[in-house]
Amino acid sequence: MGRWSAQPMGDYISGPNHTLPTGGMARVRGGLSVNDFVKLITVQQYSSQGLRTLGLRAVLLPKPKDSPPTPNPFAHAYIGGGLVTEAATNVIPVPRARVQAMKEYHPPLGCRDTLRLDFNENTVACSPKVREVLGRISAGSLTRYPEREPVEAIVAAYLGLASTQVALTNGVDEAIHVLFEAFLEDGDELLLPVPTYTMYEIYASATDARVVSVLAGDDLKFPFERLLAAVTPRTKIIAIANPNSPSGSAATRAQLLEIAARAPQAVLLVDEAYFHFHGETVIDLIGTVPNLIVARTFSKAYGLAGLRLGLLAGPAELMRWVKRVLSPYSVNSLALACCRPRSKMPHISIGTSPKF
Ligand SMILES: Cc1ncc(COP(=O)(O)O)c(C=O)c1O
Repeated sequence: MGRWSAQPMGDYISGPNHTLPTGGMARVRGGLSVNDFVKLITVQQYSSQGLRTLGLRAVLLPKPKDSPPTPNPFAHAYIGGGLVTEAATNVIPVPRARVQAMKEYHPPLGCRDTLRLDFNENTVACSPKVREVLGRISAGSLTRYPEREPVEAIVAAYLGLASTQVALTNGVDEAIHVLFEAFLEDGDELLLPVPTYTMYEIYASATDARVVSVLAGDDLKFPFERLLAAVTPRTKIIAIANPNSPSGSAATRAQLLEIAARAPQAVLLVDEAYFHFHGETVIDLIGTVPNLIVARTFSKAYGLAGLRLGLLAGPAELMRWVKRVLSPYSVNSLALACCRPRSKMPHISIGTSPKF
């Protein structure tokens, strides 16, 4: 009864309804009698201080004497919310409710001896120059933390952008994760044309934002008109894989510009993971369109999915927030070593075909 009277406090601590009442309740309740065959229910109320003092016992009490320390999830559910403040080594911390509700994603990693066409992995190989560079990595260089910024400057210059407009990431997956962490909060909406790349929804489900899906028609074409109609003042990110995975359909440049203009309060993420197979890009509009962010990856055309290297390019005003959330060391030194211009190092470069 009341805010501080969690059910396990009655069941495990004072135990007034037990055959042998606990917690001194026998004084008021008595032992086994004929009354026990009549259901007698007591109502009790704990103070906040009382729950603080006794609540931890309710969490730990049901543990059998010699069993490993397993907290009682039932008690947990009622005594959560930070009321039990004592450090207890055998209480398992509970993650955020959002995380508990997240869909699990298990990449289908079986059968690695066959080509994984559903992953769109490169079926040939990376440039032999990459292997050359990797072969020359010294043990000494591995002792140092990787420095992302000098390589970011190189990539930015190659793309005709400022380094404040580019962030290298641990694959586009990290880019999506970090972008969503930076921009999505309670009440926001992530707008997605579906079917599309699974990880948008997975990462969004760890935030408090709502996913709004716009289903493509039977022809699987980009649902431009319906996507525009689904824009609301709460739309905070619109994620468009262009061309799309798994359908291969694409939005035109004019459509993307229209979407960006109609949702100025939202980040328009154009994920160009498959740009090299499509040839059309909007990366040249970075800085001109204030809410446009473009993602690129080295995983597909470059055949470097195992190195985990991707990037986000966008206006400096947006990228500063992305960079605030991004780990300074999430792009490892092997990946960075492979990402040098041809003029500076004789190996895979952002200048070799396919053009990044
Ligand atoms: C549309 C799209 N974006 C991003 C990715 C992931 O790219 P990365 O390997 O850089 O994390 C994929 C991979 O399948 C994809 O299909």
